Amino acid sequence: MGFSLTKEQLIIQKTAREFARKELLPKAQQRDQKGEYPLDSLKKMAELGFLGMLVPKKYGGMEVDTVSYALALTEIAYACASTAVIMSVHNSLACGCILNHGTEEQKQKYLVPLAKGEYIGSFALSEPGAGSDPASMATTAKREGDYYILNGTKKWITGGATSYLFIVLAKTNPEHRHKGISAFIITRDMEGFVTGRKEEKMGLRASDTTEIIFDNCKVPAENLLGKEGEGFYVAMAGLDAGRIGIAAQSLGVGMAALDLAVEYSKQRVSSGKPICEHQGLRWMIADMALDVEAARLLVLNAAAKKDRNERCSKEVSMAKLYASEMANRVTASALQIHGGYGYTKKFPIERLYRDARAFTIYEGTSQIQKNIIANEVIGDKKKRKNNG
Ligand code: CAA
Repeated sequence: MGFSLTKEQLIIQKTAREFARKELLPKAQQRDQKGEYPLDSLKKMAELGFLGMLVPKKYGGMEVDTVSYALALTEIAYACASTAVIMSVHNSLACGCILNHGTEEQKQKYLVPLAKGEYIGSFALSEPGAGSDPASMATTAKREGDYYILNGTKKWITGGATSYLFIVLAKTNPEHRHKGISAFIITRDMEGFVTGRKEEKMGLRASDTTEIIFDNCKVPAENLLGKEGEGFYVAMAGLDAGRIGIAAQSLGVGMAALDLAVEYSKQRVSSGKPICEHQGLRWMIADMALDVEAARLLVLNAAAKKDRNERCSKEVSMAKLYASEMANRVTASALQIHGGYGYTKKFPIERLYRDARAFTIYEGTSQIQKNIIANEVIGDKKKRKNNG
């Protein structure tokens, strides 16, 4: 299936590419080494509208389609994968959950500043003992008068130390699994919100991954997002969009690794000729280019399906699975082509290789994506559940 992009989509792609290569690329290496949060770049992205891409103009957003969003995110990731994950979680999960499930008051109060990039939003689902199986979460939210009181710990939270707003999932009815979960809009200035330990990660070092703790956190009842007991559906629908973002991020990193490998292979001479003239290496590059192109088609297909408002969990999981695994294969091959130099911090391929490692893990591991694809293709999940 071929994709012809519209004029608007091409303009967004070009704007994102120019911004990313001029603003993010020169800073990416230092930010990775120092673990520096890209605050100044995020402010510039806000001015360009990249922090409210899917949000209607009436709420301060850019109001473009998912294909445009994926194209922009790919370009941002090409230059800096850390910035891309912040952008993805903010747009798909924080803005997305409020846009699709928030009341008008919640949209005015929280979505408008999020879309304008006045602050960054995050998503808090995972816990120390509940990652792939979020329905077994232990965080509770107990209604007391006009408030919910939250207790528990959320782990692996992108922006846990830096974001202002969090979409938080907690059990309002601990007796139940997914049907006992509710979603809340929580800001870090609420009483009982505690910033926990920041992880020391191998990659994506300019984006913090930090624990957050709710210690009798007092959340106004009007910050319940959607209905009580329906939070799991809010989270799962959010992740459908979130995974398109991670797939686009993976694609951007794969593209960057391929370009670095091609560039290096033309300069590096071995046995009297540039290494790109050795057939073994040419075949490696052909395989990498094919892998990148296959991922691109899957990402655009999933985004286009979402834009048609069709059920797209299968296509989204296929794109996320393939693109994230592709980014790992392609960065590994690109590092191999760089030889010993690729193993040093002087060459950016080393950063890309480390960054890519997260893609097959967060927002649903590769194994979880396979479960989702199999459930959709075979279509027997309900029956199996009913049969115990
Ligand atoms: N949209 C809407 N509803 C959905 C849905 C979707 N995409 N997927 C599932 N549901 C619904 C089902 O229809 C079902 O509803 P009913 O019971 O009413 O029929 C309900 O949710 C439960 O579905 P399952 O029985 O399939 O759920 P399960 O308990 O077997 O769990 C899963 C399966 C939770 C979907 C699991 O496959 C999954 O996705 N795990 C990974 C979780 C994850 O991605 N975590 C990432 C954390 S976020 C993160 O990493 C962010 C970051 O900071 C980078």
